[in-house]
Amino acid sequence: MTDANVSMFERIGGAETIDRLVESFYHRMDTLPEAQGIRDMHDADLGPVKRVFKRYLTEWLGGPDLYSSERGHPRLRQRHMGFPIGNAARDAWMLCLDGALAETVADEAARQAIRDSVAKLADWMRNRQDAEEG
Ligand code: HEM
Repeated sequence: MTDANVSMFERIGGAETIDRLVESFYHRMDTLPEAQGIRDMHDADLGPVKRVFKRYLTEWLGGPDLYSSERGHPRLRQRHMGFPIGNAARDAWMLCLDGALAETVADEAARQAIRDSVAKLADWMRNRQDAEEG
């Protein structure tokens, strides 16, 4: 049974799960050959973006407002404009996320719900067509 009063953040295990999820996500980005293109968009040191992404996901899943209290309105699409994100980058990013979710979120319905909403955000983050699509 799900309780509408329990946030997704709490349902999946709170800060500890977010921590494991984000570590797993960036580990995949750092090691999967399919993710090399998006890995190269990031700094050599993934420490700072891990910290920010943990704070973002915490807030976005209904936990404490750790992101906006520090960085203001997310304006995520705008923050990603400087990076060339087309279908290939979106797919590579989602590949890392799917693996990380499978590894760290045991509740299948919760995992699917998170996956579906993040996929919409990832679609929206695209700001150009892949070169091969012309
Ligand atoms: C679709 C493919 C995506 C790519 C290739 C991508 C890539 C990036 C890159 C290169 C950065 C900058 C990292 C740095 O500062 O070193 C970044 C930051 C960030 N991304 Fe993404 N991203 C994608 C989708 C998403 C999605 C769907 C979300 C949210 C669910 C997200 C959340 C964030 C956040 C919160 C930051 C930090 C923003 C800040 O500085 O406040 N990204 N992303």
